[in-house]
Amino acid sequence: MGEIIAIASQKGGVGKTTTAVNFGASLAQLGYKTLLVDVDPQGSIATSFGYGRYDIRAGILEIFTKNIPVKECIHPTEMDLFHFIPSNVWSDEVDRKSLIGASDNSILKNALNEIVDIYDYIIIDCPPSLGNLTFNALIAAHSMIVPIQCEYYALKALGRFLKMTRNLKIEYNPDLQYRGFLLTMVDMRNNLSKRVINKVRYTLQGLVFETMIPRNIRLAEVPFYGKPAYLIDRSSKGAQSYLKLAKEVVEQGAKQKQQQQNEVAEVVAA
Ligand SMILES: Nc1ncnc2c1ncn2[C@@H]1O[C@H](COP(=O)(O)OP(=O)(O)OP(=O)(O)O)[C@@H](O)[C@H]1O
Ligand SMILES: [Mg+2]
Repeated sequence: MGEIIAIASQKGGVGKTTTAVNFGASLAQLGYKTLLVDVDPQGSIATSFGYGRYDIRAGILEIFTKNIPVKECIHPTEMDLFHFIPSNVWSDEVDRKSLIGASDNSILKNALNEIVDIYDYIIIDCPPSLGNLTFNALIAAHSMIVPIQCEYYALKALGRFLKMTRNLKIEYNPDLQYRGFLLTMVDMRNNLSKRVINKVRYTLQGLVFETMIPRNIRLAEVPFYGKPAYLIDRSSKGAQSYLKLAKEVVEQGAKQKQQQQNEVAEVVAA
């Protein structure tokens, strides 16, 4: 069974979508079959793969409002192992309202259950809010990655998000894990960046990924070129940092599995 990872944070503009696209592409590059799901009604992941409005057959709107088979919403990218489900709410206010108004918290979980066995990783890009779409994503997910933009108020917005996820875990998804907090838009020439990194690492300790994502022009160019940074310039710092993150996540997963096996072995031997 594949792992479903939500990229979530209630704060806007911290690098969720950039992470979802480039981390997803890096997993595919490493040989893992990966699906990216855009649940942000304002989302533009389709643009990051060079798709226009009329290239989309069906997407997240149909999953939430029409209950169509999820396989019909999957679209290919330039990379064989990387597919995506677009957020196809263009500018229609009625569509937006019906998506945001969906009251069932398990729609996405039920939909992804149909395909979780055919992917190694399913990455969900969440909107910058704690509404029902983020709820759906965190109920469907096995784990989450939380980007933290390297700026002065980095930790301030986090409290509400952590409280919400703690309650959601208790009530709906007790198995939900933090895969980690990811420092994004890091500029090491800047003393403020260094201070923020120290503060975040001190506060969240081992939950912060060792990999940090630098501020890098190739990452900002993704929607412009319609392809992940890896396909624009694989040697760029941006592409390389997301590849490093993908390796860190895969290794962390392998360690966790080994730990679980050892725990099971200990219980059986006792
Ligand atoms: N590491 C980076 N280097 C340079 N620019 C970046 C980087 N990460 C993100 N950006 C740019 O910052 C802006 C916000 O990033 P992004 O859209 O990924 O954030 P988001 O959290 O998904 O935002 P929203 O909450 O609105 O969905 C975008 O213009 C993106 O191109
Ligand atoms: Mg986004």
